[in-house]
Amino acid sequence: MELVSTKICKTSDIGVNENLFGGTLLAWMDEAGGNYAAIKCCTPNMVTVKINEVLFKKPVKVKNHIRIYGTVLKVGKSSVTISVEARKVMFSDAAEDSVCSTEMVFVKIDKNGNASPIKEEVRNKLINQLK
Ligand SMILES: CC(C)(COP(=O)(O)OP(=O)(O)OC[C@H]1O[C@@H](n2cnc3c(N)ncnc32)[C@H](O)[C@@H]1OP(=O)(O)O)[C@@H](O)C(=O)NCCC(=O)NCCS
Repeated sequence: MELVSTKICKTSDIGVNENLFGGTLLAWMDEAGGNYAAIKCCTPNMVTVKINEVLFKKPVKVKNHIRIYGTVLKVGKSSVTISVEARKVMFSDAAEDSVCSTEMVFVKIDKNGNASPIKEEVRNKLINQLK
């Protein structure tokens, strides 16, 4: 997987049980997934159409550093499916611990907001990388 973004859990990000609020982590992952899809598809015009099951495996606490990774799983005509994983960094040994993962589908849209094909050469390159 490729590193897409890094976040730090702040006091304003936690919920009533002193864990990072799930909706905040999901927003970070959606943004990272969309950013990654845009880079891979060579266009900023990508929207989220689907987020699969989201598993919050481990709590995230204030001061935890979160790294969000992505990888392309599938390429369609106008869509890409991205695996997105958030990991917390353990400062003691620099190890990473997976805290949340999901699969997200992003669609390329045109100026009217309709689905639009990903450029053929970009699509072919992504498909070849999956082989
Ligand atoms: C993205 C959007 C333009 C797609 O419209 P649509 O009428 O479903 O378009 P299509 O039927 O042509 O499908 C387009 C692609 O989306 C994929 N798609 C649509 N619904 C899907 C679903 N439930 N699961 C997975 N993929 C889906 C299709 O498989 C297709 O992929 P392909 O071209 O690679 O084969 C439309 O759903 C939309 O505008 N959604 C809101 C997006 C948004 O605002 N996201 C932010 C969150 S609020």
